[in-house]
Amino acid sequence: MSGRLPDNFLEEILSRVDIVEIISGFIPLKRTGRNFKAHCPFHHEKTPSFMISPDRQIYHCFGCGESGNAFKFLMRYERMSFLEAVEYLAKKAGLPMPQRKGYDQKAEGIAIQLYKINELAALFYEEMLNSAQGASAKRYLLKRGIEEDVIRMFKLGLAPDKWDALISHLRQKGINLSLLEKAGLILAKEGGGFYDRFRSRIIIPIFDIKNRVLGFGARVLDDSSPKYINSPETPIYTKGKHLYGLSFAKDAIKEEDFVVVVEGYMDFLLPFQAGLKNIVASLGTALTLDQVRLIRRYTHNVVIIYDPDTAGQLAALRSLDIFVEEEMNAKVVTLPHGLDPDLLVRKNGIGDLKEKIKRAQGIFEYKLGILKSRYDKDSVDGKARISAEMLETIVKFKNAVLKSEYIRCLAQELDVREDALWQESKKAVAAKTPPVSPEIKTVKKTHTVSPTERLLLKLMLEETELVHQLRDSISPEDFFNEKISRVVSVMFELISQGKNIEPRLLIDYLEDNEISEIIGESTFLPEELSGQDKERVVRDCIQRLKDEKLRLRRQHLHEQIKTAQDSGDNERLQQLVKEFHALIKKGN
Ligand code: UTP
Ligand code: MN
Repeated sequence: MSGRLPDNFLEEILSRVDIVEIISGFIPLKRTGRNFKAHCPFHHEKTPSFMISPDRQIYHCFGCGESGNAFKFLMRYERMSFLEAVEYLAKKAGLPMPQRKGYDQKAEGIAIQLYKINELAALFYEEMLNSAQGASAKRYLLKRGIEEDVIRMFKLGLAPDKWDALISHLRQKGINLSLLEKAGLILAKEGGGFYDRFRSRIIIPIFDIKNRVLGFGARVLDDSSPKYINSPETPIYTKGKHLYGLSFAKDAIKEEDFVVVVEGYMDFLLPFQAGLKNIVASLGTALTLDQVRLIRRYTHNVVIIYDPDTAGQLAALRSLDIFVEEEMNAKVVTLPHGLDPDLLVRKNGIGDLKEKIKRAQGIFEYKLGILKSRYDKDSVDGKARISAEMLETIVKFKNAVLKSEYIRCLAQELDVREDALWQESKKAVAAKTPPVSPEIKTVKKTHTVSPTERLLLKLMLEETELVHQLRDSISPEDFFNEKISRVVSVMFELISQGKNIEPRLLIDYLEDNEISEIIGESTFLPEELSGQDKERVVRDCIQRLKDEKLRLRRQHLHEQIKTAQDSGDNERLQQLVKEFHALIKKGN
């Protein structure tokens, strides 16, 4: 993202604005020592744990982990895009926005043209629906309970029953056919020439968050098959990256602090029309990581509505794990047999759907329920299967309290011993992390951050000079945590380019929430060290990291030696023992 603007423009802005002043424009702050404190605007809390450092120009919440610089605050709090935040702060700093350089003119050119084409196509389809030709399609929509103003709002349309309706319309306007093909609106004929992709179908434009038309869904007017065809992937449309209806729902999602996710276009339109405005459609069954992260920009609370036939699918269950991994709170509603949200609203009214949403089940209960209906929880084999599948989800909870609470519940539900589940949970973690190949000499990376790593990072963040000095004595691979390892390698890269290392700049450079969290937390570590102490502490930290690395490497070799022994692989055994001795020598 930052690459599009001149390198030092962001630095220039950040050096001119004050994060304390900016954040205090949105929430009340209290001074505490050198820093400022507030109630975190990103999660509910009774005692303030949101810290702002005027020295470092970053914020960090010790309650929820949210961290960042002034740009990130605006993006998170005001839901600005990165460029919007840059523009906002540039204005505050009294800097004119520069001409963007090093930025893919051609790719942007195509994108702009495709949006324009899609816009024109949507307009054409809309006109067709409202023309005499569209009478029966209009009747179809009205019969399905979709009202005129919703048809207008979502720009529903009709692709006429002709092979070249769109082609001839757009050709008249002088549009280049190869561009129409790129937009996925027309297809090449074998013998040359083109034909319309969408024919004799209701057209549903898919909008992005800025209300640009990314592509289309198209439904038949009867029971023929396929029921829907959709735009193919194009330079502006990637399946599984967007959510249908989000631009219409985003304010309500923020307001209500939760979102309802359904599967289909109709399942979106009918409830929305009936007043459930915080709703989006995934347009396929399993939610993707991109979609979950898109939701996360607006709320951490999600209620997913599944048709009963999807609910049983393992793929649907797996996609729930994404919410756990992203530390979001997801619940599930399973509808009665034969009903989807669209039918339910038309049959029972929106009140019934809202009631079901209120009574949604948590992921744990929901998954357990499905597994219990599939396996016999009173048989030994059933207990083993259910616990294995439940643990796959439970180990993904980052919060230790939640994790142990769920393990306790599961033990109770299945009437098995809790410590047996703990033991199995270790296997589930092992199964999740791909095995380290014996050929790889580095030690496995971890997701936890050790106090040593954090302290060393804090010191490096405080003093560019220290980073210079450390370049010879430590390498990014010496850190166990993969994120810290990335931060350190970027720091080394930046100083080799003669740049300054500042937390607020690194946060933009790395664009990774976990990384800004680690940087934020490290910055606010209480230790204040004077020069000499600092040197000693740094030396200690490095030594500790290296010792730990050796220890793990030894342990790993040891395990491999055992395996080689057990399998009688003598050649490998000898080689490993040699390595082991070399390592011990190095260690002493
Ligand atoms: P559904 O079969 O549940 O369709 O598929 P629906 O939305 O309820 O449609 P109606 O009520 O019969 O008109 C859910 C979603 O899966 C995608 C579409 O995005 C659809 O909205 N889908 C379904 C397809 O892309 N192609 C298909 O053939 C079917
Ligand atoms: Mn339906």
